Amino acid sequence: MSDEILKIRGLNVEMLTENGMVQLVRGVRIDLKEGEIHGIVGESGCGKTVTAKSVMRLHDERYTRYSGSIRFGDTDILTIKEGDMRKLRGSQIAYVFQNPMTSFDSLFTIGEQIAEGIRAHSKLPKKEAYAKAVELLESVGVTPGEKRAAQYPHEFSGGMLQRAMIAMSVSCDPKVLIADEATTALDVTMQARVLELLKKLRDEKGLSILCITHNFGVVAEICDTVTVMYAGHVAESGTVSEIFHSPRHPYTEELIKNIKYELNSGDEDADPAPQPKSGEKHGGCAYAYKCKYAQDICFREKPPLRYVSDDHFAECHFTERRGA
Ligand SMILES: Nc1ncnc2c1ncn2[C@@H]1O[C@H](COP(=O)(O)OP(=O)(O)O)[C@@H](O)[C@H]1O
Ligand SMILES: [Mg+2]
Repeated sequence: MSDEILKIRGLNVEMLTENGMVQLVRGVRIDLKEGEIHGIVGESGCGKTVTAKSVMRLHDERYTRYSGSIRFGDTDILTIKEGDMRKLRGSQIAYVFQNPMTSFDSLFTIGEQIAEGIRAHSKLPKKEAYAKAVELLESVGVTPGEKRAAQYPHEFSGGMLQRAMIAMSVSCDPKVLIADEATTALDVTMQARVLELLKKLRDEKGLSILCITHNFGVVAEICDTVTVMYAGHVAESGTVSEIFHSPRHPYTEELIKNIKYELNSGDEDADPAPQPKSGEKHGGCAYAYKCKYAQDICFREKPPLRYVSDDHFAECHFTERRGA
């Protein structure tokens, strides 16, 4: 018996654009274990959201081609009917977006909207759904719940709205929560509170969380395991403690160096983060042009996926070089 609640294998996502079919993510492999917080980290544009939205099949399927598999328990999400997918969305797998401002309707109170969300998935009468909404607001630290529930979105700060959004997302007791840059728009104090909340939901409800961020600092703060993405690929994956102390992909090394740089801004050795170009076409490694260790082979041959321990792998020709 495996304890993975979500198992993504060989995921390719292609989309029809003005320039024809474009491959946005390639061969993505991710395991999310039950009760774990798994980070997906990488620069803007590397394919984190495309990957995460695929888990909920949120892309417009008239223009999208998926291949590979996304297993949620016994279900292969990529092959079930849209009607069955609709039943999973919100009730089994929930998604929190970056900007809570756009997720709430300005014309209704927060309590009404959370209650509506609850009623969309359960048969609770209005009054009870509203009472549950108040309770949920209390549980995410938006207090006093009764008063806050009666307020409109514009009366909330960004951090409160994001926590209310998370309350709404978990109102139907999903098994998996996808938090996509859920703290990016917040100031540092609010960011810390929302991260604390995610941890609490994992600890108290056993929720499994995919935490998407461009910031390795967030990963180091709350994630157990992590997938590092670069230009639509998985560059490296493993436990956060192992990767943090012994990154085997040069891109991961850069990401980690940059948080250390942010923590200690007097360090002049740190370079700015590299900007990946997705869709770079050559036979070798997508990172080769940015990589300070690159050799000829890196430009010619696709890097192999190498395991450096049971659950730590990197796609690089020279994984043995670092951390030795
Ligand atoms: N609907 C779309 N149509 C065409 N290209 C898209 C679409 N959504 C995302 N992309 C492209 O796919 C790549 C990955 O995007 P995304 O997953 O949103 O990145 P991020 O890692 O910042 O979340 C980017 O190059 C982006 O421009
Ligand atoms: Mg994104």
